Amino acid sequence: LSLKPYNTFGIDVKTLFFAEIFTEEDLRELSLQPVFKENSLLVLGGGSNMLFTRDYEGLVLKISIPGITAVRSAENEDQVLVTAGAGIVWNDLVNYCVEQDFAGLENLSLIPGTVGASPIQNIGAYGVELKDVFESCTAFEIATGEIRGFDFADCQFAYRDSIFKNELRGQYIITEVTFRLNTQARINSQYGAIQAVLAERNIRRPTIADISEIVAKIRVSKLPDPSTIGNAGSFFKNPIVKKSEYERIAKAFPELISYPAGKDKVKLAAGWLIESCGFKGVVEGHTGTWKNQALVLVNHGGATGLEVYSFSDKIIDTVQAKFGVNLEREVNIL
Ligand code: EPU
Repeated sequence: LSLKPYNTFGIDVKTLFFAEIFTEEDLRELSLQPVFKENSLLVLGGGSNMLFTRDYEGLVLKISIPGITAVRSAENEDQVLVTAGAGIVWNDLVNYCVEQDFAGLENLSLIPGTVGASPIQNIGAYGVELKDVFESCTAFEIATGEIRGFDFADCQFAYRDSIFKNELRGQYIITEVTFRLNTQARINSQYGAIQAVLAERNIRRPTIADISEIVAKIRVSKLPDPSTIGNAGSFFKNPIVKKSEYERIAKAFPELISYPAGKDKVKLAAGWLIESCGFKGVVEGHTGTWKNQALVLVNHGGATGLEVYSFSDKIIDTVQAKFGVNLEREVNIL
């Protein structure tokens, strides 16, 4: 089976086995079968953070567990706990919450992928990260078939990171996620690009629907639509460096774009570093960087995973040579 429809980069590789999972029961039953026990597993949500460089000689599990429920919080009457199945498309959950006037997810509008993948890399955009609204999640332990709950502390969230990318990598399949949202809107409009649109439209008291619509508009203007141009969002993380390191670079390149990142740490805008190396909108073979966002690598059609990967190596080497900064890939490579 070709995995092309199952990864937003649109890379045409094959998998030996494939199963789509709709319930926890499906998972339990499948886990008793030889095909599950005898093969390596790859869990896919929306396939929006994945670069395939080869065929997969194992079992791909496409998680399609449905369902959204909401209950009022017992501790705080202005809060609601929304639980969504791992297979729910992330933006469908955002839209549901915006319609219900449950505040918290609106800044995360239009992020590709599914609910089940969202805690793994602590998705974030426009001043909000998943960890700001995360309550808990439920996951299936591959080795034992047991269902386990994870609370906020268990997940060890950090910038584009969690325990599911580290100690517990490949050990659990997330089946549902619960978010703690507010029925009294708390707007987060700090992000410069949001501020600019609010000022331009003369909106003083934005609703969550305003924020959602503005974020979607900014994303559409900057990021390529995976349904027409294959991509996986930001290909690299924004590197976090020591303050002394930052000062060294800023001295040589005063236009450097950066953000405070805790004590003695500074986060650099990887998009700026890459653009400054002359890579914005570059086309190389079937791949390249996006014309409006150099941090996004694209498949212009027919690219192989290896082609994209070696182009990303070239970017890493060039940024290293010019700035002495090591870019880490944000996308999972297989
Ligand atoms: N910039 C450039 N050139 C570029 C791209 C960006 O100079 O080609 C500059 C921008 O002008 C801006 C700064 O870099 O001053 C930051 O750019 P932007 O606001 O577009 O955000 P980003 O840091 O590049 C991050 C996330 C995105 C998220 C946006 C908005 C990471 C790796 N990426 O990108 O997340 O949508 O912020 O909050 O943290 C993703 O993870 O896949 C993703 C798209």
